[in-house]
Amino acid sequence: MGRSFTAAGGVSRVLVIMLLLLTVGAKDPNRNSTSGGLVWSTAKDEGDLLGKTEPEDAAAELNDHEHLDGGFSSLDGMLQWAIGHSDPEKLKERAQDAQRLSPTELKKRQMEIKEILDQLKMPSDAQLMQIAIDDLNNSSLSLEDRHRALEELLILVEPIDNANDLNKLGGLLVVIGELNHPDTDTRRLSAWVLGKASQNNPAVQKQVLEHGALPTLMNMVRSSFSDEAIKALYAVSALIRNNVAGQELFCTETGDKMLQDILSNSSIDVRLRRKAVSLFGHLAECQLEKQGKADMPFLCNQFFLKSVVDVTSSNDLDLQEKALATIKALLELRTTEALIFKNYCDLEGALERMRKQLQHLMADEDHKEYATDVENLRREVELVYSKKLGEALKVPT
Ligand SMILES: *[C@@H]1O[C@H](CO)[C@@H](O)[C@H](O)[C@H]1NC(C)=O
Ligand SMILES: *[C@@H]1O[C@H](CO)[C@@H](O)[C@H](O)[C@H]1NC(C)=O
Ligand SMILES: *[C@@H]1O[C@H](CO)[C@@H](O)[C@H](O)[C@H]1NC(C)=O
Ligand SMILES: *[C@@H]1O[C@H](CO)[C@@H](O)[C@H](O)[C@H]1NC(C)=O
Repeated sequence: MGRSFTAAGGVSRVLVIMLLLLTVGAKDPNRNSTSGGLVWSTAKDEGDLLGKTEPEDAAAELNDHEHLDGGFSSLDGMLQWAIGHSDPEKLKERAQDAQRLSPTELKKRQMEIKEILDQLKMPSDAQLMQIAIDDLNNSSLSLEDRHRALEELLILVEPIDNANDLNKLGGLLVVIGELNHPDTDTRRLSAWVLGKASQNNPAVQKQVLEHGALPTLMNMVRSSFSDEAIKALYAVSALIRNNVAGQELFCTETGDKMLQDILSNSSIDVRLRRKAVSLFGHLAECQLEKQGKADMPFLCNQFFLKSVVDVTSSNDLDLQEKALATIKALLELRTTEALIFKNYCDLEGALERMRKQLQHLMADEDHKEYATDVENLRREVELVYSKKLGEALKVPT
């Protein structure tokens, strides 16, 4: 029968068909005009759109419903994605139409759609991934199609079973190869796919680490393109989160220096700084729990501690909150010294400065709720700090 979805747009075409079926009405399944009122937005538009906010969060939201039912093998999952790819206004109209149907009518329509989909022989997720991988592996593919293939993989690797298949299909190596592509968007999307596939997935973490991608990704964190650096750090975090081997390699590759350079430079994109502070906090928590495994001595280095404390002077509340959480974890480490926080980092001064600033923000109706949360965290840090300092002063040194 051959490949019926050879072009890079294969997945998209399947979804166009689906959307048309779902919205034009099941009575007329052979209808072959695309005048159903839907406007297909290209993968590129979506990329641009997502690029403006926190992209992996937006995509995660899109895929939220797929966790339980294993992705595109389900109608819901595909519909969810399809909705993310289509014109919202037109969809809204259609949804209003659908609301006028009685429950029995709706049920009947659903059954009809299911039947049609069965007849269409929807390709499996593995087949869709294979198509995207083959496209990526083709050096004559246009940049636009390359981006689209990566965006398709980004969604396909979300369910854990699919992520596990990626290596078997040869996809990990192909995507890792794309990290060296001259085009920054291709590199950014490839890092994103690797991060998404590795997230909370020890098997894929191990495979990506074994393929040697971590040092490449760490280099990309230093990219002058913020979006690329952010996705690279997202992937680095996904690879080493709760992963001892990953953390050891991260230290060998001087990941501590990488993080410190980001923390101590306030002109760096705040989104990257937030990610760096969070990763730092996570490493401190790991150290706290694992006690000795993957030893990370840099966590109690005074320059390092100072750069985290200094981050609290940023006027980005989100960054401040993340820095506070990290400081709290660091204070709880037995290996850090209270007197360094006091004398070298001036933690007391930083906490007092924040207290004033937060008080001011809490008086403002728009910021009240968030500022209150951060203030509560700030007080916790203050408590942990006083306790640690009290103990340090009691014990003769
Ligand atoms: C699709 O459209 C063409 C031309 O408009 C028509 O000849 C053909 O029969 C249609 N196919 C189906 C399956 O409706
Ligand atoms: C590679 O892509 C080009 C352009 O899209 C296409 O013409 C060619 O058939 C593809 N090669 C393979 C092996 O799929
Ligand atoms: C990519 O293409 C090369 C030949 O150009 C081939 O040897 C390799 O198996 C392909 N990889 C995948 C994952 O398809
Ligand atoms: C701080 O970051 C900016 C923007 O990325 C960069 O141009 C500058 O060289 C950095 N400064 C230092 C001291 O690394």
